[in-house]
Amino acid sequence: MAVNGLTEADVVFLRELVLRRSAIVIDESKDYLIETRLEKLARDLNYANLGTLVADVRRDSGTITRQLIEALTTHETLFFRDVRPFDALKREILPPMIAARQASRQLTIWSAACSTGQEIFSVAMLLREQFPEVVNWPVRLYATDISGQVIERAAQGRFQQLEVNRGLPAAMLVKYFERDGVDWKIKDDIRRMVRFEQLNLLHNWPADLRPDIVLLRNVLIYFSVATKKELLTRVRHVLRPGGALMLGSAETTLGIDDSWERAPDSVTPWYRLPRSGP
Ligand SMILES: C[S@@+](CC[C@H](N)C(=O)[O-])C[C@H]1O[C@@H](n2cnc3c(N)ncnc32)[C@H](O)[C@@H]1O
Repeated sequence: MAVNGLTEADVVFLRELVLRRSAIVIDESKDYLIETRLEKLARDLNYANLGTLVADVRRDSGTITRQLIEALTTHETLFFRDVRPFDALKREILPPMIAARQASRQLTIWSAACSTGQEIFSVAMLLREQFPEVVNWPVRLYATDISGQVIERAAQGRFQQLEVNRGLPAAMLVKYFERDGVDWKIKDDIRRMVRFEQLNLLHNWPADLRPDIVLLRNVLIYFSVATKKELLTRVRHVLRPGGALMLGSAETTLGIDDSWERAPDSVTPWYRLPRSGP
């Protein structure tokens, strides 16, 4: 499909640029994304048409390119997204993990494509609600995303009414948020539980990152099989023994990295590494 105002060469250039910088694959079936999202960006930045916007992107690999990649990235997220993964955390994953960590009191949970923070704040609230025994542990909640814009927003912990209406039980809104003008702000004690950082998953990860639980949800879908394979292998190498991997509902390790096993009898698929030895 041709994209309004762009040559075929422009579209190929954009696809390659986004792939190189973020690993996101925009195939031809998603050309409508290029059109609708870039038209909005062109309007916001006062470009007369998409052609002149892309001409500037070709000349400048800095700000305008970052804005373009932001515009083509999907940041859709919500509190307690899909519900069941959070049931699995509450009933299947966290209880044995917390029991096993009584001595070290160490627990690290990584939201590896966190968008505006709803996912990791859901985990933080779940810990507060269900596992009060870890309140005084140095629990490390680490949340990263390629997008500086969403990380900045997430770190503020401020959400619009529409956002708190999505997935967040009313009782939790009352308990863990306070009004901030027309918006809602997550209370400081929850916000301070999380460290947000900009991180492109294709780049190096922090050398000391040894998570017990990795939430790599609703991001693998945008990548090629080779990138999925590479990321699943890297997660395998950093995950602590006995750790858990959670993916989005349309994502799986099956047929991509079969070193992972699906937890049996779970309310929702999540993955772990078989223990070696007898
Ligand atoms: C659809 S959101 C998923 C948010 C959350 N995990 C969830 O499931 O609700 C996908 C996020 O992946 C991020 N992302 C895309 N490519 C990335 C990359 N190469 N490295 C890190 N994050 C990336 C996007 O910026 C976006 O915020």
